[in-house]
Amino acid sequence: MPKVYIAPSTLACPLSEMNDYLKQLEIIGADWLHCDIMDGKFVPNKTYDDITLSLITKKTKLFVDVHLMVIEPQDLIQRYIRAGANSITIHYEAVKNKLDLIAILKNMRSLGVKVGLSIKPSTQMQQIKNFLPFVDVLLIMSVEPGAGGQPFILDSLSKIMEAKALREEKQLNYLIEVDGGINTDNARAVVGAGADVLVCGSALYKAEDRASYIKKLRGE
Ligand code: DX5
Ligand code: ZN
Repeated sequence: MPKVYIAPSTLACPLSEMNDYLKQLEIIGADWLHCDIMDGKFVPNKTYDDITLSLITKKTKLFVDVHLMVIEPQDLIQRYIRAGANSITIHYEAVKNKLDLIAILKNMRSLGVKVGLSIKPSTQMQQIKNFLPFVDVLLIMSVEPGAGGQPFILDSLSKIMEAKALREEKQLNYLIEVDGGINTDNARAVVGAGADVLVCGSALYKAEDRASYIKKLRGE
């Protein structure tokens, strides 16, 4: 398998156990820390905000990958940068005025953070292709955003392949990150389709031996 980055999600871990989980993730070789922020509006659930994120980022040396599942995320970018985000991913569906989107992505880049754009399972690659030159990370949701522990939607594989083909065709270099329902049964297929970064929430958190689970996700 090609080189793949593993991005454990904080969503599966209760905040009361977070310190220990963060320490362990560094030791067992996670690459990124995927932090899911939900506002209770873009998705029904609510998680933590930038204040809690800043406590988390102080406790980890991992690359902090913030996934904003919030409406009109452009208003919050600076707060999450101050809280220690290395990359910030916003949802295509969360920005009401699509005419603003390129300016929002450019502004994020000018603030010195890696720029991510995410699409829900029902959003097609064709809808976002004009925005791809402005992103560093394309986050393909392989479940409906809003909750961990859901099964991987198989159709996502063709979308990942399309994202990879489009990257080659347009000579772009965004990373393809896949989020939702990733486990050791499907990781090989997801990477084979073109994923560079695998988010893993509940499967890794629940694994008895997390170190060997990460290795298996990588295909080692
Ligand atoms: C879901 C979140 C995911 C979630 C993935 O909306 O974006 O990052 O943590 O969890 P699993 O791996 O359990 O599907
Ligand atoms: Zn996520």
